[in-house]
Amino acid sequence: MLNGKVIVLGVTGGIAAYKAATLCSRLVQRGADVHVIMTESAKQFIPELTLQTLTKNPVYSDTFDERDPSVVSHIHLADLADLFLIAPATANIIGKMAHGLADDMLSTTLLATTAPVMISPAMNVHMYTHPAVMANMQTLVSRGVSMIEPGEGLLACGYVGKGRMEEPETIVDVVERFFWDGAAPSVLQNEEMANSSTGILHGKKVVVTAGGTIERIDPVRYITNDSSGKMGFAVAKAAKQLGADVHLIAAHTDEAPPEGIRTEKVNSAQDMYEAVQRVFETSDIVVKAAAVADYRPVETATSKIKKRGETMTLELVKTTDILESLGRQKTSQFLIGFAAETDTVEYFAKDKLKRKNCDLIVANDVTQEGAGFGTDTNSVQIFDKEGLVLQLPVISKEEVALRLLTLAADRLSGRSS
Ligand code: CTP
Repeated sequence: MLNGKVIVLGVTGGIAAYKAATLCSRLVQRGADVHVIMTESAKQFIPELTLQTLTKNPVYSDTFDERDPSVVSHIHLADLADLFLIAPATANIIGKMAHGLADDMLSTTLLATTAPVMISPAMNVHMYTHPAVMANMQTLVSRGVSMIEPGEGLLACGYVGKGRMEEPETIVDVVERFFWDGAAPSVLQNEEMANSSTGILHGKKVVVTAGGTIERIDPVRYITNDSSGKMGFAVAKAAKQLGADVHLIAAHTDEAPPEGIRTEKVNSAQDMYEAVQRVFETSDIVVKAAAVADYRPVETATSKIKKRGETMTLELVKTTDILESLGRQKTSQFLIGFAAETDTVEYFAKDKLKRKNCDLIVANDVTQEGAGFGTDTNSVQIFDKEGLVLQLPVISKEEVALRLLTLAADRLSGRSS
């Protein structure tokens, strides 16, 4: 499964470093070409020779130990990687990554790589739940780093709790799945990050719109669209998970709205416009995931329209563009729009971002497999005024939502600091 894949494995200094030997062995058995970078502390727990023997590649730990004069080792390794995996990842390396520090071979190579990065944290339960570590992990997730959540159990320090590095076999499964379908794990589903006062959206009011609006033709007929509401619901759930006060405004959907979230049901674009207007002023983030009808019938018949001639003409009139009006009104609100396209995705997304004065726009090609209406997954590109900010592979809508909101939270806190 991993034939021909180059995995750079960073091993940092925690007791779980001993598991790196099994991890190397399993990855090599599956066909991966594994190159190990150890920190000095990791060498206290496991000898370099063990990992060198298992991978049949030299093990690096000193940035200045240049063995091949034709290359600069940290750049060479950074470029070589199809995946950068750090297991175990200590609180220290997580902190260094979050703040962009480069004071050893591992952190320097991490800054130089453009490969996807996956980390498997391992530490004492109180360290893992420390707000500083949580915040650093959230920063990394918002930048697209994948996390393999640690398990719960008896830790080497004697405590029982979360912090035990995931078993090597499970990590290999996650890596294989990543190469197979691009699916990456997330760390943000864990309870410590959710709903607590450490949640990155704690104290923020998030308004989310979801579903497709319904524009009535007569009492039994209407115009709508293919929106399932799943993406908007995932955003509402993620916002709650991250500690926000969430107000969901839901039009027509296939699913029941998420439990435990204040939900206002609406039908038409006009209803949605009025509902959003009532809460916009006091909101911090507004996510317009709804598919709003661009046109509605000029008139809605009060009784069922009867079949008459061979053809029938329905006269439509433009609805209010809710997002555009919010873009004109906004003061401090952070505005996120969506652009579901069938072609020329980047061009249309950027045009909408500018026209509607959004802070971010989430664009996807709904013709792509695993993306768009009705599916549980999505594949999106997120743009700001400067251009592409984040490109995500096909991942669950829940995960897209978490990545989107951590990015928004990061930008909001940047504004206030
Ligand atoms: N939107 C809105 N009100 C409308 C139409 C769209 O708030 N009347 C919002 C959507 O919720 C979405 C964004 O604008 O966040 C982009 O929606 P989309 O339908 O893709 O944009 P349009 O401007 O309608 O462009 P077009 O239909 O021509 O692609």
